Amino acid sequence: MAAALRQAPAGRHLYACGPQRFIDPALETARAQGWSQQRLHCEYFSAAPADTTADGAFELEIASTARVIPVRADQSTQQALQEAGLDVPSSCEQGVCGTCLTGVKAGMPLHRDHTLTPEEQQANDQFLPCCPRARSARPVLDL
Ligand code: FES
Repeated sequence: MAAALRQAPAGRHLYACGPQRFIDPALETARAQGWSQQRLHCEYFSAAPADTTADGAFELEIASTARVIPVRADQSTQQALQEAGLDVPSSCEQGVCGTCLTGVKAGMPLHRDHTLTPEEQQANDQFLPCCPRARSARPVLDL
C-alpha cells in the first residue's frame, strides 16, 4: 500500500471502503506520506463499539419549534428523536454512512462518527445523531 500511494500522481484522491482494520492503516500510511485530509475519503463497513459506560442523559432543542427532547443515557440521539416523533433518515446507525447528517445551530455535540472529517467535527455545525452524545448543555438542532 505504501508503494502504491507513493506512486500516485500529485493531487490524486484516495477513496477507501472496507473494514476498519483495512481503512485505518491506509489512511495512516497516506497521512505519513503527506496526503492532505481533503484528499482522503473513506467509508467503513461498520464501526467498532464505542465505550458508552460514562454516557449520561442530556437534552436537545429543536430550532424550529423550541421543543426540548430528553436523551436518556441508554439511547442514541437518533432513538430519542424517533421516540419524540421526529423522523431523521438513517441507515447504518453506527456513524459510518452519513445518512442521518443533521445541522447543529448551537451547542457542541460529542462526535463519535466515522464519516465527518476532524475539521467538520470541530466546526460543530453538523453531526450524525445515530451515535453522538453532547459536550454542552442542550445542543440546538437545525430541525
Ligand atoms: S445512520 Fe449512518 S451515519 Fe447515522
